[in-house]
Amino acid sequence: MTKATARVALVTGGSRGIGRGIVEALLRKDHRVWFCGRSPEAVRATEAELARLYPTPVRGRVCDVRSFDAVAALVAEIEAADGRLDVLVNNAGLGHFAPVDEIEPERFREVIEVNLLGAFHGIRAGAPLMKRGGGGWIFNVASLAAKNAFAGGAAYNASKSGLVGLSEAAMLDLRHAGIRIAAICPGSVATEMRTTMRAEPQDWMLRPEDVAKVVTDLLDFPERALPSLIEIRPSVPPKK
Ligand SMILES: NC(=O)c1ccc[n+]([C@@H]2O[C@H](COP(=O)([O-])OP(=O)(O)OC[C@H]3O[C@@H](n4cnc5c(N)ncnc54)[C@H](OP(=O)(O)O)[C@@H]3O)[C@@H](O)[C@H]2O)c1
Repeated sequence: MTKATARVALVTGGSRGIGRGIVEALLRKDHRVWFCGRSPEAVRATEAELARLYPTPVRGRVCDVRSFDAVAALVAEIEAADGRLDVLVNNAGLGHFAPVDEIEPERFREVIEVNLLGAFHGIRAGAPLMKRGGGGWIFNVASLAAKNAFAGGAAYNASKSGLVGLSEAAMLDLRHAGIRIAAICPGSVATEMRTTMRAEPQDWMLRPEDVAKVVTDLLDFPERALPSLIEIRPSVPPKK
């Protein structure tokens, strides 16, 4: 990657898991990467580790994607420092799992606010800057849970199918401005989110770097081509 082809990227929820895998894959390709998370300690620790591992600039910021103002302030900081935004990865997400008649309403709201509204905030704040720069890529990390509902998953399923709908409509709105948008729907990925859901062996699962490869491969796609909905699943899951 030459300086001329290096891109400026923002990955939400980049302090661990899939987001961190995407941050690292972008750094390995010499892109300049910004990432965010809510925990200041995790953001600081990840930024320090990545700065030791990669020569390309990486900057971590505390930003809760539930706040439009916070996301807009981060995008403004990126514009002031780097002058552009070429890649936005709306990855920040969480899950609360309980039957629909038992889940605490504020828990349900939190899942929607992070997974769905958070991605909208990223698009709403980031797309104008991308447009000014002539276009870019937006990746929305959804889930196979967008189409595969499961008991106890009302909040998560609703947030992820909503995110796929948002992604497709946003793609239609923005493609004429040179912004390509893809919803990436992973199956089970070995991360902390998965560990907190249930204790189980993780050797059969996808790894964060597998999802990251979807992002870096799509960045290399010909400009005329837009894979807008990608499913990626473990090749050999346990038999049910
Ligand atoms: N793991 C899977 O099996 C799987 C499968 C399909 C899709 N996904 C999706 O992939 C994405 C990443 O999941 P993961 O498994 O990597 O989860 P994870 O290990 O729990 O990491 C989630 C990341 O998002 C950040 N985050 C959470 N809430 C945030 C908020 N309000 N604002 C900013 N950052 C926030 C977390 O940092 P803080 O907690 O410090 O904020 C962390 O960096 C999620 O959207 C998830 O739904 C995961």
